[in-house]
Amino acid sequence: MGKILVTGGAGYIGSHTCVELLSSGYEVVVVDNLENSSKKAIERVESISGKNLDLVIGDIRDEKILDKIFMNQMVDSVIHFAGYKAVGESVEFPLKYYENNVSGTILLLEKMKEYNVKNIVFSSSATVYGDPHEVPIKEGFPLKPYNPYGKTKRMVEMILEDLYESDKSWNIALLRYFNPVGAHESGLIGEDPRGIPNNLTPYITQVAVGKLKKLSVFGNDYPTKDGTGVRDFIHVKDLALGHVRAIEKIMEKPGLFCVNLGTGKGYSVLEVLKAFEKACKKEIPYSIEPRRPGDIAKCYADTNYAKEFLKWEAMFGIEKMAEDAWNWQKNNPDGYGDN
Ligand code: NAD
Ligand code: UFG
Repeated sequence: MGKILVTGGAGYIGSHTCVELLSSGYEVVVVDNLENSSKKAIERVESISGKNLDLVIGDIRDEKILDKIFMNQMVDSVIHFAGYKAVGESVEFPLKYYENNVSGTILLLEKMKEYNVKNIVFSSSATVYGDPHEVPIKEGFPLKPYNPYGKTKRMVEMILEDLYESDKSWNIALLRYFNPVGAHESGLIGEDPRGIPNNLTPYITQVAVGKLKKLSVFGNDYPTKDGTGVRDFIHVKDLALGHVRAIEKIMEKPGLFCVNLGTGKGYSVLEVLKAFEKACKKEIPYSIEPRRPGDIAKCYADTNYAKEFLKWEAMFGIEKMAEDAWNWQKNNPDGYGDN
């Protein structure tokens, strides 16, 4: 077992991954500037797992912070979550996105190289496929991200591919996540978006808890089963376990690999709404509104490569995702309360 540096470890996916890493026996050091997260998430990660981790509050774009970490801690591998993730904001402020997601990653990689830490798991996204010509989406499909956020993800993938070509002693996992939802079953950690949520499931749970009035369903004229958008929703715990599996794989020195992390199942917006109504035991008001610009009809993963190569498969279905998301929201109506 080694020590893992988790950048962005206080965030939504990072905090759930820290729980699974600690529970699997890894030592963890988190670097997070808490720009989009709360220190409370780390305290709760420690209470769930019954283990401590080192939290460094700081920015990955700060060379001194990275020097301090790599000099003082015997880091074996890095899981790199830190970055911005709001698609709409990336269209408005592209430089902010390229600067954090791309330049921030370059500095991290330079420091890893300097300290001879050459194992990295990178948070990529299904958004790199753009609007796929067919579903399910295989890893070899054409890559056509169409917003600045998606382009930053693809650019980092390309940087990592070139880095690997230049030095085959790197071990690099590119994990393309589909739509992460749900929360830890304890209800202690979960998704805590700032302001009005952009994503479907936090919007639904905030309607259910009474913070928002009704859900707008963006479009019911897509070529899908009921006309609403179809996505591959994956429980955040499954996603977190995918990272533990990727770290185990990295220890086998596999070189560079790229896998989809999804369930392989597509659910429509209305199906998701129904699953949440069942979990919350209440009706969730909604109205049909025009399509949201930039949305695609269908997106779900081909999971065969993840099963074969990574020996990983999602365990949880939409019911459990809805139950756990609701359990988190009802116990923490204001999230961590320090937004
Ligand atoms: P999040 O915002 O909850 O977590 C990101 C964390 O990184 C936050 O705690 C934030 O404070 C921190 N951070 C941001 N910039 C930083 C910097 N320069 N230095 C230090 N810390 C910094 O987001 P998340 O949903 O947990 O996503 C994690 C990663 O997964 C991101 O890279 C995101 O792009 C990617 N991803 C997310 C989704 C999704 O739908 N949530 C889908 C695909 C990929
Ligand atoms: N939707 C609504 N109403 C809402 C919010 C969303 O109807 O209030 C619909 C969308 O139109 C879409 C579906 O719900 O059809 C899912 O939308 P999300 O915003 O939850 O998720 P996206 O699929 O648009 O994007 C998410 C992340 C991206 C990531 C992508 C990966 O936000 O960062 O998944 O597949 F890249």
